Amino acid sequence: MPEKDQQKEAGVAAISAASTNGTVSWQRFSVPFEYPVYFTDHLFAPENKVLLQTLTHLESDKRHRVIVFVDSGLLEVRPQLPTEIQGYINYHSDSIELVTPPIAMPAGEKIKAELHFIEQMQKAIADYHIDRHSYVIAIGGGALLDAVGLAAATSHRGIRHIRIPTTVLSQNDSGVGVKNGVNLFGQKNYTGTFAPPFAVLNDYDYIRSLSQRDKIAGMAEAVKVALIRDTEFYEWLEQNADNLAIFDENAMQYMIKRCAELHMQQIAHGGDPFESGSARPLDYGHWAAHKLETITRYHLRHGEAVAIGLALDTRYSVLCGLLPEGADERVCFLLEHLGFKLWHAALESTTTDGQLEVLKGLTEFREHLGGALTITLLDALGRGIEVHKMDDTLVAQSIEWLKLRRS
Ligand SMILES: NC(=O)c1ccc[n+]([C@@H]2O[C@H](COP(=O)([O-])OP(=O)(O)OC[C@H]3O[C@@H](n4cnc5c(N)ncnc54)[C@H](O)[C@@H]3O)[C@@H](O)[C@H]2O)c1
Ligand SMILES: [Zn+2]
Repeated sequence: MPEKDQQKEAGVAAISAASTNGTVSWQRFSVPFEYPVYFTDHLFAPENKVLLQTLTHLESDKRHRVIVFVDSGLLEVRPQLPTEIQGYINYHSDSIELVTPPIAMPAGEKIKAELHFIEQMQKAIADYHIDRHSYVIAIGGGALLDAVGLAAATSHRGIRHIRIPTTVLSQNDSGVGVKNGVNLFGQKNYTGTFAPPFAVLNDYDYIRSLSQRDKIAGMAEAVKVALIRDTEFYEWLEQNADNLAIFDENAMQYMIKRCAELHMQQIAHGGDPFESGSARPLDYGHWAAHKLETITRYHLRHGEAVAIGLALDTRYSVLCGLLPEGADERVCFLLEHLGFKLWHAALESTTTDGQLEVLKGLTEFREHLGGALTITLLDALGRGIEVHKMDDTLVAQSIEWLKLRRS
């Protein structure tokens, strides 16, 4: 029996034995989760069956009602998208009904900044009588998916939610995950739930219209997961950095798919998909990244902040003797080669008592989960290791090192 289950059994036995003042019955059940993650090209081409199959595979003999929320930034570069969606649904009108034209929602962190947008989507879901056998489809970047996911999960206590991620980061990381959320009280993802999607449909075509900035930003998550889980993939990233830096399609598509697979493996087999323990195993470099995002009021993209967080924690891993000298420079070289800047003045921002503001990220990281502080560091490029203490002086020295090498 795995160690965690043994501890649980022991806990149950202890409580049962101690229940001398009453009786106790343990309620116990588990709910299996499964969802398909597709990789396709031109999802809304009428002859592409991916969406049709996704909507009809549970019940094939009815018309499926869908409501669609779309990222307004995506609509700016693809104004024809609502017509394409409508065309697809008209073509498959025996099986699909679009209850209202696709609804544009604010792009990026703006949609995560106010609960008002969640309520607006919940109202649309109610007004168009979307029930638990209908579908809420989200098309957009990671921020839009996080917000729509929350609205879907909290309407009628959970409506089938299909994610169509349209950025590198949302295809290779956030879209395949089980979390949603919006920012509140100055904290990233404070209000959210764990709610696996009904399906994830990755369409490579969206990557083609993405800005250079967002193509680069999403690659941080690939470097992250390679560093903590997969030496071979890390070496592949180094060998293909030239191609990735010019966004070569084959290289980008392999990077996205492999990164998504590694995230899926962790969720399915890591033993704690809903993060009830103290560890956030996929969040290497993220304690600083989340704080840098809030300090800069989200001027830094999530991926850009993650790249800085990776550089910081890799230098820290060297300073505390886990990694050999030079490994930090190697990781920084890869990140810079991919187009990241590894210095931001927010790293030096201080609170009124003179403390580095970024250090507050450690407390917030711990409080998000509860339990002991658990930070992932590296003891090899490709292997993460968990520690429960971070030395403020070594963090400050890591920041100093990043500052010195920025030229
Ligand atoms: N739920 C999770 O597990 C999880 C994991 C990682 C990150 N996240 C969250 O994801 C968010 C970051 O996601 P992101 O990097 O996708 O950024 P984003 O959602 O902010 O999108 C970046 C920009 O790209 C635009 N855009 C989207 N698709 C486009 C396309 N195909 N062509 C042109 N422009 C397009 C958007 O309008 C936006 O302006 C953060 O809020 C982060 O916290 C969530
Ligand atoms: Zn991330």
